[in-house]
This record gives sequence, C-alpha cells and structure tokens, in this order.
Amino acid sequence: MPVSDSMISGLIDLNRAGEQGLVAQLTGQLRGLIAAGRIAKGCALPSSRRLAGDLGVSRNTVTYAFEQLAAEGYLAASHGRRPVVTFDGGEPIEGTGVATSKARPATPRLSPWASKLKQTDWPMSYQAPLKPLRPGHGDFREFPNEVWARCLRRSAVRAARRELGPVNRARLREALAHYLAASRGVRAAVDQIVILPSAQAALTLIAAVLITPGDEVLVEDPGYPGAAVAFRASGARVTGIGLDRQGMQQMPGMAAPKLIFTTPSHQHPTGRLMSLARRTAFLGSSRPGRTWIVEDDYDGEFHYDSRPVPSLQGLDAHGRVFYVGTFSKAMTSDIRLGYLVVPPALVSTFEIAQRHIGLIASSHIQEALAEFITDGHFLAHLRRMRRLYHLRRDHLVDGLQRHLGEALTVEVPQGGIQLVARLKRGRADQAVVKRLVDAGVEARALSSLALGKPRDHGLLLGFAAWRESEISAAVRTMAACF
Ligand SMILES: Cc1ncc(COP(=O)(O)O)c(C=O)c1O
Repeated sequence: MPVSDSMISGLIDLNRAGEQGLVAQLTGQLRGLIAAGRIAKGCALPSSRRLAGDLGVSRNTVTYAFEQLAAEGYLAASHGRRPVVTFDGGEPIEGTGVATSKARPATPRLSPWASKLKQTDWPMSYQAPLKPLRPGHGDFREFPNEVWARCLRRSAVRAARRELGPVNRARLREALAHYLAASRGVRAAVDQIVILPSAQAALTLIAAVLITPGDEVLVEDPGYPGAAVAFRASGARVTGIGLDRQGMQQMPGMAAPKLIFTTPSHQHPTGRLMSLARRTAFLGSSRPGRTWIVEDDYDGEFHYDSRPVPSLQGLDAHGRVFYVGTFSKAMTSDIRLGYLVVPPALVSTFEIAQRHIGLIASSHIQEALAEFITDGHFLAHLRRMRRLYHLRRDHLVDGLQRHLGEALTVEVPQGGIQLVARLKRGRADQAVVKRLVDAGVEARALSSLALGKPRDHGLLLGFAAWRESEISAAVRTMAACF
C-alpha cells in the first residue's frame, strides 16, 4: 500500500557502519520504495531539510540522493520545491538494478555465439584458492614484485609525456619482436604484433576475423578446451585429431580445413614436443591460401632437456601461421597480457578488429612490461624459473614413480609446467580426481580435456607452482588415496 510522505523516513534504515555510503544506501532504499509502488506516482517527498533531520544525516546526503533519482527518472525535482515521484510502477528504469514485484523474468534471446558458449561445459571459471597440484600455473610467489612495481611506477609517472593513441605500444612490440626472434625463431615485423589481455583473447579475435559458420577447424584431442570453445562459438565445425609421440598426428592427404590449432612446443595437456622434421612435414601437408595455422606457445619459455625447437611460424614461408603467446605462465596470470603475431596479409584487418572488439591492453602496463623486458628482468626471471621448474618436474616425476609407480605411468615432458600421469588400471579418472580433490590435491582428469569420447584416462598435474616440500606432501596424499 502506498505510504504518505510523513511516513517515508520511518521506512528508511541507514547503516552507518555498512560498506555502502549513506548516499548510496538512501538512494537505493528510496528507489526500491518507489519501484515497488510504496511511494506512489505524484507523491511529494519530504523536503531535503526535513528528511535529513528525521534521518540524522546531512542535507547534502539527501540532496545527492534526490538528484540521482531525478537523473534516473524516478523523481521530478526543481529548485526550492519538494521532489515529486514521476515513476508509475512499470518496468524498473533500465540500469538501476531494481527488481519490482511486477518485473517478470524474461528468457533472454541470446545470439548464436553466446548460446554456443553457454552450451560448453568448460566455463573458464577462476577457482580460488590455488591448491597443489593444480595444473596450468607458474609459481607467482617467485615473481620479482619489487622490480615489477618499479617498472609500473616509472610507467605511470611518464604517462603524461607519452604519445596518446597507439593501441599496441611500439616499445613493447619491439621488445617482443627481439625476444621472440632470439628465443623462438619467430619472424615478425613490429606491426604484426598485437598486444592483448590474454592468449584466449587472441583465439577469440582470430575466430571473429576468420570463421564463417560451417568452416572446419582441426584441434588436438585431448587438447586445450579454450580453443575448441572459441572456434565452436563462432560456428566452426571442430574436429579433434588424436595424438602420437610428437603431439598432433599428421594426416597425410587431409582435406583443407579452414584452420588448424596446435600447441607444438608442449602439446596441451601431454607436454609432447613436435620435432623439427614433423614441423616441416606438418607445414608441407597444409595448403597455403586455404588453411590457416594457429600455433599456441603458451608455455614455450620453459624447456629443460634440450634446446627449444624453432616455432612453426618461423619455419613457414607462406605467411599462414598465427603465433599466440601469453605472460600468464611466464610472469603471473594476474598480469593479463598476451600477444598474437598476425600473418602479414591480415595486419590491417586485425588492427580494425582489435579496435572494434576493444581487446586493448592498458598502455601503462604495456610500457611497464616493455621496460621489464628491455632492462633484462624478464630473461633473468625466466632463467631462474627454468632452473626451479626443472627441479620441481624431476621431483614430482621421482615422487610419482616411487610411490605410485604401480598405479600410474608418468609421461615426462621436456618442458612446460605440468605433466600427465596415466592410470594403469581402470578408466575412471574423474572418480580418482574427485577423491584427490577431496583430499586436497587438485589434479585434473585427462578425460575432461577430450573433445569427444575420451581416448585416454589419467591425471594432469602441475609441478611449476609448487615447492618441493609441497610436491612431496601432495604425492603422499595421493598415495594414501590410491
Ligand atoms: C594451451 C593454452 N593456451 C592458452 C591459454 C590461455 O592463456 P591466457 O591466460 O593468456 O588466456 C592457456 C591457459 O591455461 C593454455 O593452457
């Protein structure tokens, strides 16, 4: 039932110790009363002086609340007069976040893209806290935060003197072009390098630019679910290709798909390495002009047993390979920076697409990262982490072989941040993972990374993010679970 203006202050309950400020609380409560029809259209609210007195708040608090509600269309306010309610209890005014009893929940009609994203069972949710041996992470505790903070500070201080505008900062592009040429054999002119908030953003951008619904895309199976999701959501027919000892199997005489997604440096999830000979054959079997290749080098910085094999991108003579990288593994996942090396023929198209989709990384962070790389901190950090992760890989392999050798076959990856241990008996990796997670060891089921019917059952275990003592404790827990 509508209330009279004298009763309004009695319906307001402000919490001075609350997280929300008094203006926001008062605005929200008045809005709720109006939207619910308790304060009816045409009702004049108490004057700001009176309401402030009744509620024991400053007059400014009330005035700001009235101004906000007038701006949202709930009130008509004019100077020297009491504000009058203009909202008649229909649908709440968009953007004010008010649900009224009259608001009916409607089923939103989604685009085909969003509908496909919602169908996936890989939600990319960020789970916290991180528990041993969750795969996919480096050890962020080892990141040189003080050095990084100095780079960030200098970048912020210099901001006023910087040229405004370029979405992909020249200093970072140059630093990356040098680093990628020297360490991964990537051949890229600076304008081919697109700086993005993540590697996943690179996949979404590629899908948006290249995929027409119905196009065929080949991915590794088991593989990185984020890639299959990005291409499927754009309407591609995604087909899984099985693995052999060198990662993605070669398909002699395969038809010409629109795109092939591969992780040749450390196949995700198995860590298998595609040899130079296989890379050359791989490029030879896909048709330039018909098929694009996306090479995802998400953790290629970490190699332990041999020198890294040059990237597919650097070996390709036809300008058809996209090279994708990320700083989430090499630095910290919070840094939210990745990059994409675009084939020369697509540079201007990607420039437009990046601007319009708005996948633009902060200039402050880009400049800070450029300094972090050019001053040698990035390579120093990588060298240190390579040594540390190498020891941790060996420690986990040794622990698993010693304590779980009867239950698991460990695949020792030559690099990367995670490994696969196959179940020797049974094919129920999801049930094993549930038991392990309940006991505090965050393994991932290999079968959950299969595109269709799982071909393999096993555990994906991270080693890079965990100290040797943590790895030992996790292995003991695992042994108790088996
Ligand atoms: C193979 C692979 N590619 C890409 C990514 C995504 O990286 P980003 O965090 O930069 O989106 C991941 C993350 O785990 C990955 O495993």
